[in-house]
Amino acid sequence: MSEDVFKKIVSHCKEYGFVFQSSEIYDGLSAVYDYGQMGVELKNNIKKYWWDSMVLLNENVVGIDSAIFMHPTIWKASGHVDAFNDPLIDNKDSKKRYRADVLIEDHLAKIDDKINKEVEKAAKRFGESFDEAMFRQTNPRVLENQQKRDEIHTRFAKALNDSNLEELRQIIIDCEIADPISGTRNWTDVRQFNLMFSTEMGSTTDGAMKVYLRPETAQGIFVNFLNVQKTGRMKIPFGIAQIGKAFRNEIVARQFIFRMREFEQMEMQFFVRPGEELEWFAKWKETRMKWHKALGFGDKKYRFHDHDKLAHYANAATDVEFEMPFGFKEVEGIHSRTDFDLSSHEEFSGKKIQYFDPELNKSYVPYVIETSIGVDRMFLSVMSASYCEEQLEGGESRVVLKLPPALAPIKLGVLPLVKKDGLPEKAREIIDNLKFDFKCQYDEKDSIGKRYRRQDAIGTPYCVTVDHQTLQDNTVTIRYRDTMEQERVAIDRLAGIIADKVSLKNLLKTIG
Ligand code: GAP
Repeated sequence: MSEDVFKKIVSHCKEYGFVFQSSEIYDGLSAVYDYGQMGVELKNNIKKYWWDSMVLLNENVVGIDSAIFMHPTIWKASGHVDAFNDPLIDNKDSKKRYRADVLIEDHLAKIDDKINKEVEKAAKRFGESFDEAMFRQTNPRVLENQQKRDEIHTRFAKALNDSNLEELRQIIIDCEIADPISGTRNWTDVRQFNLMFSTEMGSTTDGAMKVYLRPETAQGIFVNFLNVQKTGRMKIPFGIAQIGKAFRNEIVARQFIFRMREFEQMEMQFFVRPGEELEWFAKWKETRMKWHKALGFGDKKYRFHDHDKLAHYANAATDVEFEMPFGFKEVEGIHSRTDFDLSSHEEFSGKKIQYFDPELNKSYVPYVIETSIGVDRMFLSVMSASYCEEQLEGGESRVVLKLPPALAPIKLGVLPLVKKDGLPEKAREIIDNLKFDFKCQYDEKDSIGKRYRRQDAIGTPYCVTVDHQTLQDNTVTIRYRDTMEQERVAIDRLAGIIADKVSLKNLLKTIG
């Protein structure tokens, strides 16, 4: 898929009420978006799929909903005040600001593209007999580019690991990376920039306190560890799940809802015995990948990316990457965070945060496995994988969102053939019976063909047409989104047919 398709997906999101630019009538607010009437349904369905997979399928995972504002010392303890920084660099000619690491990553991606194009060309030339591994090991151009890439990558990983800002700038200079706007290489030094938004709580006469908009939901879980453990009589191992907004003053805010300044996270912290964390890390990796793959977009769309640079508090970390139209990108992070957060909160709060393990007969600070997924990135991955342009017989074409039925905003479109003869009333009667289980949409405007196209464009898995025969024998024509096949069925069979495919329960059963 290409950037071109990505642009189409972005316009589709707007045209059909999925995602709008925030404050659009005031020319928008950069990297902030609103979800429209279709978008909010899809987003809620994604959240429910995640929530239920955590708290219904796991007896030992419970949920919470903590406040966005928290005591400012929490962010000192978590390391965000001192270390939640991005390295930024300015171009002196365009006066534009960039993330130094992103400039280098983009440069690496360009080299990857060159290599892949070389491989694709050769694959076409040699056809069936093409041995990709051999080609990559022997082709001089591929080898040269691969060596260049590896050298830059090694320097880059080390510079990040050592927080060596001078070296990051030097890599940009050595790689001759130019500003995409001015085209020049007139760069400033690299500086650290803290990503947290802050505001004041209380009036200044009272001595207002500087508070932060949380940059992750996880800390709300850590500081409630004892509350939940004690009131819920939770025994280790157990998890706490939360869905909520997070805020980051991203320097490079781009690629639509991929990188936003206000976004939503679904995070789960799983508390385990020290020493057992890597076993649980492997289990959660597997569980989370199963959750993604169950949506049916194809296993090739996903891969793990193990981190080169481990945060100082982590002893294992991986990303679940999804093939977006602009390449494989992180959708979810899975980290083994050791006892860093709880121990740090013990130290900063002066309160003991430990668990008494009756089997071991001792107290300890639990270790933590974290699974953290962005709702908006998940939304973008679902939209990207579902968007389809199809050529039909007779020269026609259609745009169809092949959304997993359980996530589709509307499950059933109900369409009276004409706006008279009692057909609208019959259609409404069908909706009145089904509306308790499924989100239905009534549509009587335009030809049936146009109405089908509108439902295809928002991913509605089923449409039924109510015609004159319906009044005589209580049957309707049901039309299936993906195959466009139609069949005549009795109205009282509709609930069963629809439930079979759209039920979240059935989806959960494939992973539970
Ligand atoms: N508590 C761990 C944590 O916050 P992270 O890798 O910084 O880890 C987790 O974020 C997930 O949140 C990412 O995998 C991504 O899906 C989402 N995310 C992070 N920053 C984002 C942004 N600016 N816009 C949209 N989603 C974002």
